[in-house]
Amino acid sequence: MTVRTVGIDAMAFHGPAHYLDMADLAVARGVDPAKYIEGLGQTAMAVPTPCEDTVSLAIAAGDKALARFEIDPSEIGMLAVGTETGVDHSKPVATYVHEHLGLATNCRSVETKHACLGGSAGLTAAMDWIATGRARGRKALVIAADIARYGLHTPGEPTQGAGAIALVVSESPRLLEYNPDIYGDYTRQVMDFWRPLYSRYAFTDGHYSIACYLEALAGAWADAASKPNAARQVPIAGLDACFYHVPFVKMAKKAHRRHWEAEFGRTLSMDDAALLEQVAASFAERVSPWLELNATVGNIYTGSLFLALMDYLRKVEEDREGRTVSVFAYGSGCGASLLFARVARGAATHGHRLDPRQDLSLRRRLDVTEYEAIMRASESADANNGQALDPSTWRLGAGVYYLGTQEHMRQYGQYDR
Ligand code: CAA
Repeated sequence: MTVRTVGIDAMAFHGPAHYLDMADLAVARGVDPAKYIEGLGQTAMAVPTPCEDTVSLAIAAGDKALARFEIDPSEIGMLAVGTETGVDHSKPVATYVHEHLGLATNCRSVETKHACLGGSAGLTAAMDWIATGRARGRKALVIAADIARYGLHTPGEPTQGAGAIALVVSESPRLLEYNPDIYGDYTRQVMDFWRPLYSRYAFTDGHYSIACYLEALAGAWADAASKPNAARQVPIAGLDACFYHVPFVKMAKKAHRRHWEAEFGRTLSMDDAALLEQVAASFAERVSPWLELNATVGNIYTGSLFLALMDYLRKVEEDREGRTVSVFAYGSGCGASLLFARVARGAATHGHRLDPRQDLSLRRRLDVTEYEAIMRASESADANNGQALDPSTWRLGAGVYYLGTQEHMRQYGQYDR
């Protein structure tokens, strides 16, 4: 039995309780704030405390998605956590999430990794699991959770952030239906961004990573465009919105231009004034209205693409239902995927369940001294038999948190304030 309709049925975001204003960081680093705010497109970035690790962020996002869309944990038959920031070389984040969400023992659970592509890899595996009929009516929970960490005083510092997006995938999706036939894949071995097993911080060749991202976009587009019947689905003029991996907001602008260039079959120069105007108008219509959450949360690596998608879906009105969107994921190293999907009938009635602005408004603004203290404290948070971590130290609200490592085992617990 094959299932033809597969897509996103529910969605939720969870991020850290604190953030840093980009203007504050710029002043502290002796940089013109316009570089971070206009040059990179970021107004703020989420800062996780030592108690908020990939596991705790993923649990909170998964919990919200199930609760807000009234899905019982027993309906979930597959759990995939996509992350660049796993907490163990062997044991997947998914096992901790599985326990805390009370999922059934006959639920398959995995961690998917390919830098920022990990969440999308989990999503496509979940969609294939459902499409082949092996889910037998059950749903998949896919969580993209990460802590983007480059370190203090690095060029990547203003492109940090943290957070998790949970997606429930089903054969009767309330939000978005994926097109199973038109998709593009791309893989090439490059050293644009990586994190050796011994390092808490990512290494990156920043400008090269941007070039690799754009080349991967063109490659994935060419693969999608080669599929039968692609001509009806792929052209940008027929798309209501285009979503891209968003390590920083300006990157989506560069991506949209390259997306058009792939379609034009050539790169644009200053001499192409009319076409550049067309690209700029298209960016204003199809991309920039949905980057509000990314601008204030920062980079959440594998979830950042879905943060833009969520911004769109929370604002969707009835006239957009049935329209097509493109979804481009990039993971350094590198790999990419380009998918197409249609806004589900009735999606507009679910916008209120998706809106994370209330949660974001409760975040506490850090000053740079506090931010730097948190970054330093995080460095020793995984020490074996170190001091137990206390969520009250960081003024955290109720939730499940990482409490330190004892006898080489990570400890998690519910904190009720
Ligand atoms: N006012 C306005 N704009 C200004 C400005 C000012 N005073 N000063 C500089 N700018 C602009 C620049 O013109 C530039 O914009 P354009 O790219 O449109 O020209 C922008 O601000 C950034 O300036 P620089 O390129 O000079 O900045 P930088 O060299 O310090 O580094 C960066 C930028 C490469 C993104 C760096 O932050 C970095 O290495 N980040 C991490 C790597 C990354 O995010 N790569 C993205 C692709 S890889 C990926 O996506 C995977 C992933 O998630 C990591």
